[in-house]
This record gives sequence, C-alpha cells and structure tokens, in this order.
Amino acid sequence: MSSADSIELVDMHPPHADLAEETLRGLSGEQKTLPCKLFYDKRGSELFEAICELPEYYLTRTEISILRRFMDEITRALGPRVQLIEPGSGAGTKTRLLLDALEDPVSYVPLDISKEHLRAVAESIHRDYPDLQVQPVCADFVQPIHVPDPARPPDRRVVFFPGSTIGNFHPEEARAFLDHLADLAGPGGGLLIGFDRRKSPEILVAAYDDSAGLTAEFNLNLLRRLNLDLGTVFPLEGFAHEARWNEQHGRIEMHLVSKADQTVRLGETDVQFHAGESIRTECCHKYGPEGVADLADRFELIHTWTDDEDRFGIQYLTVR
Ligand code: TRP
Repeated sequence: MSSADSIELVDMHPPHADLAEETLRGLSGEQKTLPCKLFYDKRGSELFEAICELPEYYLTRTEISILRRFMDEITRALGPRVQLIEPGSGAGTKTRLLLDALEDPVSYVPLDISKEHLRAVAESIHRDYPDLQVQPVCADFVQPIHVPDPARPPDRRVVFFPGSTIGNFHPEEARAFLDHLADLAGPGGGLLIGFDRRKSPEILVAAYDDSAGLTAEFNLNLLRRLNLDLGTVFPLEGFAHEARWNEQHGRIEMHLVSKADQTVRLGETDVQFHAGESIRTECCHKYGPEGVADLADRFELIHTWTDDEDRFGIQYLTVR
C-alpha cells in the first residue's frame, strides 16, 4: 500500500434520480419541502465547513471536545483491530482523532455519494496513515451495501456517525436507518454516534441563524442549486432564511420564507407562493439524555459521553 493508486474504490453509485420530479413532489404538499441532499454541492460544503467554525454553532466544537476528553474510554470500548466505517465520510478532525487513538485499526471505509469527495478523503487518509488499509465505497449511505473485507481480519466493525446527522432524519426514518447501520456493523459490531441535545430555544435557534448570515446563505444555496441544475428561476432575494424551534417535535426547522406572493415555473408547472409561506428545507432533531438508544432497536447501549453543560452527546452501542 505505498501509493494512492493502490486504493481500490468500490463504485455503487445509484442511477441519477429524477431531481425535477422529486422537487415538484416536495413543492406540491401542504407544507412545501425541498430535498435536503441538495445542500451539499461544492459551495454548500464550503459554507457548511464555515458554519462549523461559527461561535453560535456549538455542535462541532462540543463534539470534538467530548471526543478529546474521553478518547481513552472510547477506544477501550471499541477495542483493538477495528474496521472503521464512516457514512458520509468527513475524514476531518473527528475521524483523525479516532484513528490516532484506536489500537491497531485494520481498515477505514469511507462511504460517500460524491466520488470526487470520496477520492480526496481516501487519498488524504492514505497519505497520513500509510499503514492503514483504506477501502472507499461510493454509495448513497442509506442504500444497502456490501462492506469490503479488509486484508487483515478485524475484531469488529464499527460505524462512526458523528455530527448529529442522525437528527436530520425523521424519527421513523432514523429508526430504519439505525437498523441499516446495524447491518453495516454486522454481528458483534458497534456504532459510535453523535447527537445534539435539547436545550434553550434561544441557543438552538442562534446555532441555525448566525449573525454572520452563513446559515442563511447555506439555506438559500439550495435555490441557487435548483436554478443551476433544473433551470428554474427562483429569485434568491425573494426568499428569507428562518430557523424555527418546533417544541412538539423537538426539532429545529430550517425554512425559506417567501417575501411576497410569487409564482415560480418548474418545467411545465407553475408553483405558487403566498407572502409568508415557507418551504421547509431541513429538520434537525434534538434528543434527551437517552440519545438515540430508544430508536436503535437492534443495538444495546454501552455508554453515553457528554460535555459539562450537556449540550451534545456521543453514544457507543453494539449490535445485539
Ligand atoms: N447535522 C447537523 C445539524 O443538524 C448539520 C446540519 C445539517 C446543518 N443541516 C444543517 C447545520 C443545516 C446547519 C444548517 O446541525
């Protein structure tokens, strides 16, 4: 494994879905929605990276501080010779903290829908961890995949899913997705997962509506992306970003609120917006101290780590 050429990429990229149809479906409901996967084009990904550095966006910082503080306990729980699987591979600070601390990890399997991003991640991990086998898989991480066997037999497979990304699934989808992660981890496998905690709505709303306006730009980028990909003509100045706390569902909702009565043409269809009507673009669910354990039917909770202010949690669970 001396050169990046030796990295074997498994390509399971799904056929391109019909974006126009999906978009139209989202905009046809009572509450209009848009597919949140559209957030992460190049510009969206850059904006998100910048969001993670914002003073109001405590999530990333807090999760990293928990990882640093409890890394000895965490790696003891995971054990030696782990095959580490990361859906939506960030391969940034958090992954590296874990790889630095794990005892004799057997391989790293980044899973990502973007082949370009995946290659970059795989190469950068390979460069910095030359003795670690890297086995990138290009796939939509909600689809069933076959995890490639590493050259050395692992003691267990562990799925790493940080960032409170689980919160972006609706509870029933989260349940199904956690079942799917149990399949990825396999018998005897584990799941190390980060989740954001419920807290005062002021703190939560500020995290998704920062004073520098980056989250607003991130949200509006969805329309820009649609305009580019579908040739729609959403006027970006015709919509305003709003972050709402939904107490009943325990979630932050991101909306794009129409500033006026307006009509946007989508292919053959005219989509009407009333002034004040919104498109809900994403939900970020927040959890109690039990974290995701209640949703993770196929897992047994081993441990929960938190920060001093209980802002964020990291749980380790193993497949029953
Ligand atoms: N999962 C993270 C969160 O819920 C990151 C994220 C997803 C996000 N969508 C977002 C952050 C929209 C800001 C805005 O916070």
